[in-house]
Amino acid sequence: MTTPDPTTPPATTPDPTTPPATAPDPTTPPATTPDPTTPPATAPDPADPEAVARFAFLVWSYKQGEMVSLLVHLGDRLGLYRALDGAGPVTPDELAGRLGLHPRWLREWLRGNAAADLLASDDGERFELTPVGAQVLAREEESLRFAAGAFGPPADPALVDDLAEAFRTGVGLAYDRQGEQGVHRTERMLGPWARLALVPTIVPALDGVADRLLAGTLVADVGCGAGVALTALAEAYPASTFHGYELSRHAVDRARTRVAELGLPNVEIFHRRAEEVPEGAGYSLVLTFDCLHDMTRPDLAAAAIRRSLRAEGTWLVKEIRCDDSWAGNRRNPMLAMFLGFSITSCMSSALSEPGGAGLGTIGVTPSVAEHLARQAGFGRFRVHDFEDPANLYYEIRP
Ligand SMILES: C[S@@+](CC[C@H](N)C(=O)[O-])C[C@H]1O[C@@H](n2cnc3c(N)ncnc32)[C@H](O)[C@@H]1O
Repeated sequence: MTTPDPTTPPATTPDPTTPPATAPDPTTPPATTPDPTTPPATAPDPADPEAVARFAFLVWSYKQGEMVSLLVHLGDRLGLYRALDGAGPVTPDELAGRLGLHPRWLREWLRGNAAADLLASDDGERFELTPVGAQVLAREEESLRFAAGAFGPPADPALVDDLAEAFRTGVGLAYDRQGEQGVHRTERMLGPWARLALVPTIVPALDGVADRLLAGTLVADVGCGAGVALTALAEAYPASTFHGYELSRHAVDRARTRVAELGLPNVEIFHRRAEEVPEGAGYSLVLTFDCLHDMTRPDLAAAAIRRSLRAEGTWLVKEIRCDDSWAGNRRNPMLAMFLGFSITSCMSSALSEPGGAGLGTIGVTPSVAEHLARQAGFGRFRVHDFEDPANLYYEIRP
């Protein structure tokens, strides 16, 4: 499968009423994208109205994405995708009757989703969430591909003011500046892989880790956020003890609430920075999931983790798939989204203190991770690709 040139609107639009010959495999990311590093043979002529129209189409397509994002957030928040899941083709009136909502509002929302190809509709009157779509939009608890939870309301204007100011000062915003909403969105965005892949797929691939967890050992999740990885492990391995370390007050509160709700006696959350993980703590497994690139001093965090780990222990790092070269990163069809996350969240956090490393969302490539690990005194480094479309995993040992 190839992705069309985004700067060129398709000459003919495919008939949206005709289903594709074969349904896409929802577990497989697009196989290839065109090589974006190859410049076009000739640069577009600025006097060519067609070239300007194509560029305008490109820009407006991002505005459309913003609007569709809000439709997805509303659908998730109001339970619309969940209500549509398995319901077959439904009219706005039928959906309104089931949910106690207004049919006129639902018709506009349903048509917007059909126009965005998120719902199927032949006539703009009856709308269906396909089983493929349900895995991405409705089935949070059972689908690795669930994505709707990542779509929040528009950013707080005061937060955007602070981001604009950061371009002047160079100093970013700590995670807590994103408020409770930021923790919640991260929890839902990263939750599926932690809940559904960590125990069955990832832990068994690590040398000796599953046996130690089953027998009972001490584990730390550093930068644990809402604790989704921590609680998945704590439920699966009740003989082991789990410590979460987290800098954000909002995340600590959320993690403690989740641990209490799940009634897990073997988990404790500390409001403490990664650099302060205690020396000699005796951990046999330390996780840093999606957070080294957010830290102002990942080098000090790595050194503290090394000092806290037993000689036979394992440090498991999860980081965004990325490359040392621009050309390599340009092959990622979601690169612009990741750079947007970096400005609004990851790089901002990593620059939120003087001297911050500022690695950002795509800053921890395999070579950067290996360098950090070796500098901190680790000897062994192995890359795992679990076909998580967004992340690679690094198994690091003394
Ligand atoms: C993208 S979130 C990931 C959370 C969690 N690991 C997960 O996978 O859901 C990054 C987290 O790193 C935390 N963080 C950033 N710098 C930190 C530091 N120096 N020490 C501890 N936590 C830190 C942030 O507060 C945030 O909760």
